[in-house]
Amino acid sequence: MKVLFYTPQSDTAAWLRDLSHALPDVDLREWQPGDDAPADVAVVWRPPREMLAGRNDLRAIFNLGAGVDAILALEREHPGTLPRGAQLVRLEDTGMAQQMAEYVTHAVLRYMRRFDEYDLLQKQQRWHVLDPHPRETFTVGVLGLGVLGSHVAQTLVSLGFPVRGFSRGARQVEGVETFAGDAEFDAFLDGVKVLVNLLPHTPETHGVLNKASLSKLARGAYLVNIARGAHLIEQDLLDALDEGQIAAATLDVFVHEPLPSQHPFWKHPRIAITPHISALTLREESVVQIAQKIGALKRGEAIGGIVDIARGY
Ligand code: NAP
Ligand code: GLV
Repeated sequence: MKVLFYTPQSDTAAWLRDLSHALPDVDLREWQPGDDAPADVAVVWRPPREMLAGRNDLRAIFNLGAGVDAILALEREHPGTLPRGAQLVRLEDTGMAQQMAEYVTHAVLRYMRRFDEYDLLQKQQRWHVLDPHPRETFTVGVLGLGVLGSHVAQTLVSLGFPVRGFSRGARQVEGVETFAGDAEFDAFLDGVKVLVNLLPHTPETHGVLNKASLSKLARGAYLVNIARGAHLIEQDLLDALDEGQIAAATLDVFVHEPLPSQHPFWKHPRIAITPHISALTLREESVVQIAQKIGALKRGEAIGGIVDIARGY
């Protein structure tokens, strides 16, 4: 089996070393522009169009992340880019669920205990005690109850928060009040104090964090966006912060990454920024999962994580 590898943003040599170790029988090579020699499988993150276009020999494309929006955007912009017979396979968890749970727990506790406000008071050298928000009314709403969202929701339940979850189809997650589909979106949002976004970015979810949805949350709510920047209408967040509808936001993802130096988010006193690190792709765990799935494909067995191209995730 011939396997192509490409990533623009991490240590290619280390990936090639670990993949060859886990898959000693495969013929693995780094894809370079102009390489159109035969290949059965591609392992990629944000591949250029020319790597995939016309490669009808590929049987599977393994995406080195949970979100496949970048690859599917290539297909939308240039139909026919994705090889016809190839299955697109995303990472399932590989250590990301725990990282997301840590990130969201930190943000939710920071806001509930008002540590964000103590940071501001410290800058003014003010010794002032604030009443913590009552936990029982600090409802957290998790958008997306997939691999990552359901783990985040369960972690928050274990900390005693009232938790709601929203998905496309009906889902049950123990201890979580669940809502599904557009018809239940407003009921899900109503009164939520912290909105956590873990939806995939698809044409349906583009711009879902906007003036209308933010206005349905509890007054002075908090936003945690850890899915994709294009879920958020950035000016609507700035307006909602100015109006006090949103008290503060923690943002890990942005429309343009890296966030441009002149962007108003950088210096906003109520916005906390991280550089798309809420759940990193962990090489060791990812290599194990990809190697297992390549082995299963070789044996003709079914694998999980296959993307439904029409649905977009
Ligand atoms: P997943 O398992 O595919 O779960 C997606 C969830 O979103 C499912 O519950 C799905 O509903 C729901 N959903 C999709 N479209 C919807 C719609 N139109 N309306 C309502 N619900 C909808 O994905 P995952 O592995 O949890 O990952 C989620 C996203 O996290 C990724 O796509 C990626 O963008 C983001 N992410 C970010 C980072 C980072 O570092 N910032 C890292 C990893 C992932 P159903 O259950 O009904 O299908
Ligand atoms: C990272 O953003 C991912 O989708 O895994």
